Amino acid sequence: MSQPVRAVVFPVAGRGTRFLPATKASPKEMLPIVDKPLIQYAVEEAIAAGATKLVFVTGSSKRAIEDHFDTDAELEAALRKSGKDQLLKSIRNIVPPGVSCIYIRQGEPLGLGHAVLCAKSVIGNEPFFVHLADDLIAGEPPVLAQMAAEYARHGGSVIAVEEVPRAETSSYGIVATDAANRVTKIVEKPAPDKAPSNLAVVGRYLLPGSIFGKLEKTGRGAGGEIQLTDGIAALLAESPVYAYPFKGVRYDCGNKLGYLKATVDYGLSHADVGPAFAEFLRHAVK
Ligand code: UTP
Repeated sequence: MSQPVRAVVFPVAGRGTRFLPATKASPKEMLPIVDKPLIQYAVEEAIAAGATKLVFVTGSSKRAIEDHFDTDAELEAALRKSGKDQLLKSIRNIVPPGVSCIYIRQGEPLGLGHAVLCAKSVIGNEPFFVHLADDLIAGEPPVLAQMAAEYARHGGSVIAVEEVPRAETSSYGIVATDAANRVTKIVEKPAPDKAPSNLAVVGRYLLPGSIFGKLEKTGRGAGGEIQLTDGIAALLAESPVYAYPFKGVRYDCGNKLGYLKATVDYGLSHADVGPAFAEFLRHAVK
C-alpha cells in the first residue's frame, strides 16, 4: 500500500516576465480568475486531494501570498459589522483548520528544479505533490486527486501529461512512454524535430523524497536553469515514473492568451455574473 500524500510544494518564485508590468510588484500567482487568485484555486485543489502541509517556495514581492492565506481580523470584523455575510464567508477558512502553510524563500529564481529543492528540509523523505498554480486545470475530480488515486494503484512517481501540437514542444518537458504509460525518456524543451513525442508535462507532479538527491546533483540545463525535468530524468533509472493523461481542461495562465481563455470560461460559469457576461459577449463578439 502506498502511503497517502499529504504535502504539496507550490513554487511561486518565478519572475513572471510574460505578465510584466502586472507582475512587477505582485506575483503572477495572485492574478485573479474572476474573483479568486490563481494560488487559491491551487490550494483548493491540494486540499481536495487530502493535503495538510502546504509549502510555498516564494521569491521577492511574494508577501501578498502569505497575506492572502493569513487571517485578516480587521477585514472580518468590518464585513461582520456591515452584515456582508457572504463576503465574510468567502475570506474565512480559505485554509481550513488542520492544514498548515509553510513559506520558504528561493533566494534567486534559478529554475523550477531549484525551487523544488528549496523545500527539501520541510518535506524530507515523504512523497509529495508539486503544483504549478499558473497551470489552471478544471477537472472533476480535481487533478491532484486523480493523481493520488493513480499513485494508490501503482506507487512510483506520477506526472500529468497532455498532448500538444508538435510545433510547441520547445515550451514543455516532453516524455516518451511505454505501453504501460511508464516514462522511458523525459527531456526539457526539445525542438519539434528532436522531441521524443508530443506528450507534454504540465504543472502537476507526484514525486518521491528521493528526487531531492537527484536535484542536488542536477546542473543547469535548458535556459541556464536547474530543471525539474532533469531531476526526474535521473530518477527514471531507479524508480518508475508514470505519465498520467489527466481528465480536465487546462489553461496556461502563465501566458496572456491562456489567462484570458480561463477568465472567459470561468466568468461564463460564475454564479453571479455568468448570464450577464454571456449576454455581454454575444454583443462584443460579432
Ligand atoms: P515559468 O517559467 O512558467 O514561470 O515557471 P516564470 O519564470 O515565473 O514566468 P516567465 O516565463 O518569466 O513569464 C513555472 C513555475 O515555476 C515557478 C514559477 O513561479 C511558476 O509557477 N518558478 C520558476 C519558481 O518558483 N522558481 C524559479 O526559479 C522558476
